[in-house]
Amino acid sequence: MRSALVLHGPNLNLLGTRRPEVYGATTLADLEDRCREWGAAAGFAVECHQSNHEGDLVDRLHAAGTDAVLLNAGALTHYSYALHDAVEAIAAPVVEVHISNVRAREAWRRTSVVAPACVATIYGRGIQGYRWAFEHLAARLAWEPEVVGYGPGADHVGDLRVPAGPGPHPVAVLVHGGFWRDPWQRDLMDGLAADLPTHGLATWNVEYRRAGTGGGWPETAVDVGAAVDHVAALAADRALDPARVVLVGHSAGGHLALWAAARAELLPGAPGAAPAVQPIGVVALAPVADLAAAFHAGLGEGAVAEFLAGHPDRESARYHQATPVLGIVPTVVVHGDRDDRVPIGHSRGLGDRVALIEAAGADHFDLIDPRSKAWEGARYQILAAAGVY
Ligand code: DQA
Repeated sequence: MRSALVLHGPNLNLLGTRRPEVYGATTLADLEDRCREWGAAAGFAVECHQSNHEGDLVDRLHAAGTDAVLLNAGALTHYSYALHDAVEAIAAPVVEVHISNVRAREAWRRTSVVAPACVATIYGRGIQGYRWAFEHLAARLAWEPEVVGYGPGADHVGDLRVPAGPGPHPVAVLVHGGFWRDPWQRDLMDGLAADLPTHGLATWNVEYRRAGTGGGWPETAVDVGAAVDHVAALAADRALDPARVVLVGHSAGGHLALWAAARAELLPGAPGAAPAVQPIGVVALAPVADLAAAFHAGLGEGAVAEFLAGHPDRESARYHQATPVLGIVPTVVVHGDRDDRVPIGHSRGLGDRVALIEAAGADHFDLIDPRSKAWEGARYQILAAAGVY
């Protein structure tokens, strides 16, 4: 079993009583217990430490000797170059974690001086962020990705994992969910990203601008289109086959994958209407496929209205452009019948242009959990869509 250190900085000993409206009601002791559970599930023996002193944290990092570190440095995040250098100096990958959404609070919290030395930053997901951090570390230790830029912005990046062998390899473009919102990033798809290449399918797990990082309509969709097209640019050097690309999206990323699969069919003037890569199939996992239905059901606490910047009026060009045209390429939707985030009814009404696979007993996240039964079924659909089976 691998080892991981969970390291907490100043004031985090006060979790539970310190600003519970921001940090929640969980105490540090309870959080550390949860970390031991989440770590064990991801294959780590976990050790925890908290200190209010910068030098203690530096010493602890030097002495870590672990395979991986989760670091919530508290306010030191925003100004401790000593911690940056300590993170940089050690061999173990370090994930920066924040309970709150540091990008949506005081301006000074938007800067992290430790981030450039960390392999990922997870913020704004409450204490669940630690669970995602363990999953991210497990995936990168299983198969370290090449991080590749596809555009000028910080979000124009993706993780590339290519199977061994001469290729050219079929490619799954992975599009994460999170209701198109800032705190949810491509680490959500890490389990899939590291698993599919062991079955012969390269993965290109893409980031895109979201609400809060310059996204919305059409920026978010433009980014996903550009990321898909980038497979053509990478093909020769990375032994990828741009004629065997499948799109795989989860939740709101399912919407984006369905949308991107039919970009060529969009209204004149729609973003990215002349794609460089035409996918041969799309597999949408628990997708938000019908924007109007999602709006009326209030999914994601107003997420559709936030994404489209207004009511998804069926008459508006914006709504038409953002609504996926289904079935232009072979389209499979996999949806768990225990999904409480995007209920399965949202997929049952999509008609016969999609093949709907109902995953019995699966909830919203089981479909992207590489250890779940539901993922085995979803993986089969993805490999079949890519022609690997
Ligand atoms: C924090 C955010 C920091 O800005 C703050 O100083 C903390 C906690 C978080 O977990 O959200 O102490 O790291």
